[in-house]
Amino acid sequence: MRPLSTDDLRQRYLDFFRKNGHAVVPGASLIPENDPTVLFTTAGMHPLVPYLLGEPHPAGKRLTNVQRCIRTQDIDEVGDASHLTMFEMLGNWSLGDYFKEGAITLSFRFLTEELQIPVDMLAVTCFAEDSDAPRDEESFAIWKSLGIPEERIGFLPKEKNWWGPAGLTGPCGPDTEMFFWVGEGAPHGNPAQNEEDWMEIWNDVFMQYDKNADGTFTPLTQQNVDTGMGLERVAAVLQGVDNVYETDRMKPLLDLVKQLADFKGQFVAGEEEQTTIHPLKDMRIIVDHMKATTFMIADGVEPSNVDQGYVLRRLIRRAIRAARKLHIAHDGTFASTMASEVIKQYARAYPLLQSRASDIRTLLEREERQFGKTIAEGMLHFNRVTEKLQQTVIDGQTAFHLYDTYGFPIELTKELAQEKGLTVDETGFRKAFEEHQAKSRAGAEQKFKGGLQDHSAETTKLHTATHLLNAALRTVLGDHVSQKGSNITAERLRFDFNHPDKMTPEQIVEVEKIVNDAIRADLPIAYHITTVEGAKAEGAIGVFDDRYAGEVKVYVVGDEARGIFSKEICGGPHVSRTGMLGEFKIRKEESSSAGVRRIKAIVQGGPAEIETAGDA
Ligand code: ALA
Repeated sequence: MRPLSTDDLRQRYLDFFRKNGHAVVPGASLIPENDPTVLFTTAGMHPLVPYLLGEPHPAGKRLTNVQRCIRTQDIDEVGDASHLTMFEMLGNWSLGDYFKEGAITLSFRFLTEELQIPVDMLAVTCFAEDSDAPRDEESFAIWKSLGIPEERIGFLPKEKNWWGPAGLTGPCGPDTEMFFWVGEGAPHGNPAQNEEDWMEIWNDVFMQYDKNADGTFTPLTQQNVDTGMGLERVAAVLQGVDNVYETDRMKPLLDLVKQLADFKGQFVAGEEEQTTIHPLKDMRIIVDHMKATTFMIADGVEPSNVDQGYVLRRLIRRAIRAARKLHIAHDGTFASTMASEVIKQYARAYPLLQSRASDIRTLLEREERQFGKTIAEGMLHFNRVTEKLQQTVIDGQTAFHLYDTYGFPIELTKELAQEKGLTVDETGFRKAFEEHQAKSRAGAEQKFKGGLQDHSAETTKLHTATHLLNAALRTVLGDHVSQKGSNITAERLRFDFNHPDKMTPEQIVEVEKIVNDAIRADLPIAYHITTVEGAKAEGAIGVFDDRYAGEVKVYVVGDEARGIFSKEICGGPHVSRTGMLGEFKIRKEESSSAGVRRIKAIVQGGPAEIETAGDA
């Protein structure tokens, strides 16, 4: 095997394909252009979709490049030996030029001649037939003719050996994948038999179909090849290390984390799984997440509560949480210190990192401080909750709320609980955590279906915030306040109401406080259906004009035990608990028209995916 640095491997790949007639084209941004169906560039083919569908590429029919990619679906696996949130994909494409034989031969030659990987360390898989496409006997025969023994070739169904489309529709097809032996002892079997012994390193996709919105496949007139090799994984193979974090460009990042954590011990992957503390995993999470966030910010993403910005925020917060667990100081410069090292390691290959360096650092410092404040607020919440506690156990929901809204790792909640002689229902916490994850996944799928124009979680939160605001205004300014207009976008709410005077700064602060107290109280929200008369009789507020005929929905925030905070006629939807709103802020108070004031406000810091309020 040829021991190559990450930088040399990247270069050798491009050189090899250039020598074989490919034009080297630049990699694209992590933020897809003109594609609202995905948040991030997930593969090298992604920016090339128009050409895979037949549009002529100005550089010709054979292309190669290196593409930074983000796969948010892999975040939960980060910390193992090979999954990364952001990774570099080396790729080569044939746009209606060579097909299976050409692609497989080039892959085989690059692996065995250029990189000198022994054939007996390799295995491959091919597509097993289904109703959409036949069994890929052709690829099987090509691999065999090149010298891959039959027992190293597995056949796998669509879930494994079919790639694409990158969004909902588009080019896709059967693929053949290459694996490197990572099991114990001498290589045996293949990924269809002993999957865990093999690490995928490269994928050759035969893009012969266009997937339609209705789920059917239309054969493409142009038969394309799309390949993707994992740079970090192959670097690990060539450098003789068993995980991507030990490769030459990533190890300095891991070492920096160890240094910051003042870590002197030795941890072996797997060993620490026996305990509740996973220092190695947390260290890897920091490395992975800070690398991904540095690249994301370089490409123009800023932390926010929606879309790419939300993913960025989540990654930064997860990294800070991991730092906290490792007792690394995180009062403003932890994230930017990590980013500086990322920039140092990757600026040669990505000059953009250098030119964006000061923005990256400033933004991370600001975000870290803001998260620090959220955690401080969490402390207040913790104290309030525990003072009211009737028993000595903090229930799972409360622990999860601390985790989800204030960023408290369960370890921190346990530590604080212990100081007060309390315990935490950890099983309940895990349950709440898993339920939330299942919901987020469902939410993400939903969002995917609706396209990115659908910001329903954000607008739903703002909708509920509008009810809280309405109630708070009536408390502070008086019962004469009633809604004159409401307009909600994904970013903010706008609420018009009758009131003769400009609000004083004190009144604004008071309204904000009342709303935020209601949010922190995490009050339940539910609706019931009644008549307009019935709603009036029970004291619900609302716009009583002729827009409602017959039955109406009344949304109630709060309950008998903790008091009714708001009761309003409304079509919904709303969140099921006020805690999901995060934090409420009034951005502007101004005149709208004579006797009518206008407030613009936002919510921030709540979860990206929400549950909507149901029938009481
Ligand atoms: N687009 C293919 C992949 O990502 C090569 O695996």
